[in-house]
Amino acid sequence: MQKIIAANWKMYKTCAQAAQTARALSDALANGVHEDRLVLVFAPFTAIAEVQGKFATNPSLAVGAQNFYPAGEGAFTGEISPSMLRDVGAQWLLVGHSERRHILGESLQLIAQKTAFGLEQGFKVMLCVGETLTERTDGALATVLDEQLSSALDALPEDVKNALPGRFAVAYEPVWAIGTGKVAGPEEVVEAHTQVRSLLERYLGSDAADIPLLYGGSVKPDNAPLLLGLDNVDGLLVGGASLEAQSFLQIIEA
Ligand code: PGA
Repeated sequence: MQKIIAANWKMYKTCAQAAQTARALSDALANGVHEDRLVLVFAPFTAIAEVQGKFATNPSLAVGAQNFYPAGEGAFTGEISPSMLRDVGAQWLLVGHSERRHILGESLQLIAQKTAFGLEQGFKVMLCVGETLTERTDGALATVLDEQLSSALDALPEDVKNALPGRFAVAYEPVWAIGTGKVAGPEEVVEAHTQVRSLLERYLGSDAADIPLLYGGSVKPDNAPLLLGLDNVDGLLVGGASLEAQSFLQIIEA
């Protein structure tokens, strides 16, 4: 399976800063990407067009949006629709990131609606799942992963559910490892990814084998090679270490 190395720039970078980083990535990767990986940047809304402008001629580079509202248009002050994001070049949508679940209070139901709507609108969707430290120490890892995956997948119309390979990815991001410098250990990553894969098999049957599973949470250039070599790890979702082109390039080439 093609590995996906994704950047989540969160609420960082002005247009000029985003353009500079995107240009550095696209220049460095102009002659192809290591092992034919897909490099994806979830940029802030205001910088999507800039990033897309720098990535447009390289099929290994793609841009996505970190958020959207699951409706075509309407009286939803402050929200943004998938078609507006398509307009500026977004091809991917990020859904269920722990900062949106835990800081912005997005419910399982809203995340399920967003997953279905994004896919129905023809976008590729990356769904993030992961447990908090308390959930892990309480032994609730399996329950949390099941709840987060089943709620999103159960809400999909059958035709969408039957056509997920190539347009759906799952990122396992333990909440306690995001932005903390505490990367999950190899056994913890393999344990969680094995569980995600078998849950996907339960909900999607044989298609599950073709859904990329990314790991995220304090990925850095020095731990990326180990993480990418683990069973069932088909890519990485990188926050802090994706902000500088140099460190993100080291991860892309890990
Ligand atoms: P981090 O963030 O790499 O800074 O831990 C990962 C993420 O939030 O996707």
